[in-house]
Amino acid sequence: MLINSSEYQAMFDAEEKLWWYKILHEKVLAFIQARQLSKDIKILDAGCGTGGLIAFLRNNGYDHCKGFDFSEDAVSLSRSRGFDVSQIDITKISEYFTDQVFDIIICNDVLYQFEDSEISGIFKGLFSKLSPGGFLISNNNAFEIFSGTHDIAVGSKKRFRLDDFTGYSNVSGVFNVHSHTYWSLFLSPLILLIRSIQRLQIKLKLVDLDNIKSDVEMPSTLVNSILYNIVKLEERLFKRAPFGSSLFLILKKK
Ligand SMILES: C[S@@+](CC[C@H](N)C(=O)[O-])C[C@H]1O[C@@H](n2cnc3c(N)ncnc32)[C@H](O)[C@@H]1O
Repeated sequence: MLINSSEYQAMFDAEEKLWWYKILHEKVLAFIQARQLSKDIKILDAGCGTGGLIAFLRNNGYDHCKGFDFSEDAVSLSRSRGFDVSQIDITKISEYFTDQVFDIIICNDVLYQFEDSEISGIFKGLFSKLSPGGFLISNNNAFEIFSGTHDIAVGSKKRFRLDDFTGYSNVSGVFNVHSHTYWSLFLSPLILLIRSIQRLQIKLKLVDLDNIKSDVEMPSTLVNSILYNIVKLEERLFKRAPFGSSLFLILKKK
């Protein structure tokens, strides 16, 4: 399911400032920088949404970034930023980029829209576009206990655990899980509280399910900065956290 136009606009407006996007984009950049790869590497953002991560990587000197998304709204908002973004269905990715390979592919928060039976096929397609030894970076929503109205708004079919990815690795045979962390551990109690209240509201039919909004919304500058700094502190203290509402993975091509 694709999300509605207003959600893409919300994403476009928030993704350069909202603490959550900032943390995620910095995690992606930190991995790429730690590999000490040349700035000329070819990067593909699969399901790139409105292009915020491409903007961030380009601002950090990675000029050879492309993206694709299935949504017309996402593609046109990305193109309005001047980026090379195509309209492609990720389940058909093997039919595209036939004469190209990428050093890094990123697929953040896209897989939740698919059944397990489709995800291994998506991985086969994505990894066929990676150069030998290349990496796929993928952030995904984690643990069903964190589900709430956001999941309904974005059409989530599931939330993930590490075991899911070892399963996709075994079935597809194209990658190994190189490293992972859940995040944010420190914000988990707060997120759990909010999502539990949302689930109760849904149960009591206090929520209009046809007009539900995602959590992509800018808080005040102060709150945004506090949440950002809490996660930054967590990153300094733990290289890998055991729990959190997102699972950040580095997958290595076999
Ligand atoms: C939650 S957004 C994430 C966007 C971006 N990766 C990010 O981190 O901000 C999920 C994206 O997956 C895209 N999407 C959904 N189904 C798709 C498909 N079949 N092929 C490609 N993209 C798809 C949606 O249009 C949306 O932009």
